[in-house]
Amino acid sequence: MPLDKYSAANKANWNDRVPIHWDSDDYNIQQFIDDSNYISDIVQFDVDREELGDVSGKSLLHLQCHIGHDTLSWARLGANVTGVDFSDPAIEACKKLSVLSNTPGEFVVAELYDSPRVLSGRQFDIVYTGVGAICWLTNIKSWAEVCAGFLKPGGTFYILEIHPMAWSVSQDDHGDQLLLDWPYFESAGPQGYEEDTSYAGIGKVSHTQQFNTPHGFGEIINALIQAGLVLDFVHEHKVAPNKILPMHVTAGKGLWKMPEGREYDLPLMHSIKAHKPE
Ligand SMILES: C[S@@+](CC[C@H](N)C(=O)[O-])C[C@H]1O[C@@H](n2cnc3c(N)ncnc32)[C@H](O)[C@@H]1O
Repeated sequence: MPLDKYSAANKANWNDRVPIHWDSDDYNIQQFIDDSNYISDIVQFDVDREELGDVSGKSLLHLQCHIGHDTLSWARLGANVTGVDFSDPAIEACKKLSVLSNTPGEFVVAELYDSPRVLSGRQFDIVYTGVGAICWLTNIKSWAEVCAGFLKPGGTFYILEIHPMAWSVSQDDHGDQLLLDWPYFESAGPQGYEEDTSYAGIGKVSHTQQFNTPHGFGEIINALIQAGLVLDFVHEHKVAPNKILPMHVTAGKGLWKMPEGREYDLPLMHSIKAHKPE
């Protein structure tokens, strides 16, 4: 399926980020390889809060799996994992990480909306998607239909994502003020911008153009309901895995939070668990 101009630009940008992220401290790839007990910070976040629950023996599909350290963390917790991503170098990195870390996983190149065709109607016990994923997608209703379609009856959907309100706030330094800078609702459409760096903090990309589409919290939740899923919980979190705002301070375990006294001003991440009726 040919990519639209937004996805084509994003794919070139993500291809450039793969070697940068592989070498960055953010992704701890060497530690993942050296220590068979190591779990990524993002998956550890779920484990610490018992959000997704026991995955052992279950088939788990990770949508937009990037270089696979979260996917393979679920494998280390006992899941039979399949990761999909539209970036060929990202999927190559996943396969390499799987071999080097001796952690089994299946990895497939597929654009999100085309992935049901590529995986030819397969269904899974768990569909998982993680931080920094859905902002790259233009249509949240179609995304939710893809997620629901991949689930077996009775299967579990789980997402942990940056909160749309946190995306809406200006990431420039405005002292102690929070300023709105970015649209909140999907109807604003894809928002183009140029950036030659990545959040991992090192290296430069040559394909600098990117398009993010906002999705409001209600739009995400309603898309899942309309796709036929039944909500188990909707959580809003006061921590994020990246230093989104200059005012953020460390919260330990690779997480960041609002400074003392401002913890109640802004949700930074959300997580949603839902299931497909039998
Ligand atoms: C920030 S990563 C999310 C994964 C994980 N949280 C992480 O940080 O490694 C975003 C991923 O989405 C992928 N992606 C973006 N748009 C996509 C699309 N339309 N179809 C499939 N993958 C896509 C990118 O290649 C990238 O690997």
